[in-house]
Amino acid sequence: MKSPHPPIVAPSLLASNHGRLAEGAQAVVDAGLKWLHLDIMDGHFVPNLSFGPQVLADLRPLSDLFFDTHLMLDNPHEYIEPFIKAGAQQISIHIEPDYPVADTLKYIRARGLRCGIALNPGTPAAAVEPLLERVDNVLVMTVQPGFGGQKFHRDVLAKIAQISAWRAERKLAYRIEVDGGVDDETGLWCKAEGADTFVCGTAFYHAPDRRAFATRLEAG
Ligand code: DX5
Ligand code: ZN
Repeated sequence: MKSPHPPIVAPSLLASNHGRLAEGAQAVVDAGLKWLHLDIMDGHFVPNLSFGPQVLADLRPLSDLFFDTHLMLDNPHEYIEPFIKAGAQQISIHIEPDYPVADTLKYIRARGLRCGIALNPGTPAAAVEPLLERVDNVLVMTVQPGFGGQKFHRDVLAKIAQISAWRAERKLAYRIEVDGGVDDETGLWCKAEGADTFVCGTAFYHAPDRRAFATRLEAG
């Protein structure tokens, strides 16, 4: 079942040159896109480190891009305010770690941001079902988080379909965002199941024609 929302391609800055992050953000603007996906990693929840609030704060005045912030942290509730102050506009947090998830989602929304719940490939859709009325975004990981350039997990498509079916049955309005190994083929598989927001790292930054790449995903 296709999504009621128009498609959005959100390039992941993690796949750009980390010595030229401003240029990486500008490439998104140059491709005519509006969202920038920002992967925040703590070396605990995921076995990698990326960047912190200062990067967002320094990129913030350079563009009007919508900062779609993906917190892969064991304790995201302790970092919400620093990312809000740095210019995040949507914050997605993971369901897996042990912290007050529902209160943190409520706090993000109360601060005027869009909030999202993220789940790993091995986490069943049922884990986020009780939270669906409280979120603007469901971030379905299509790879095990921690690194870009990984292979798309096709077995996650059924979970996207389930989360999409709940959205329709309950007349909810959350977006369904897919993240990891998404390109202009795997992204269209996800779109057919109800996804509408496509995080693309490697596929976007390595595309010979980034605008044409995004158009194929948006239009397909
Ligand atoms: C992985 C991140 C993804 C990643 C996507 O943990 O959440 O956003 O950067 O990169 P690709 O598109 O290369 O898989
Ligand atoms: Zn991500």
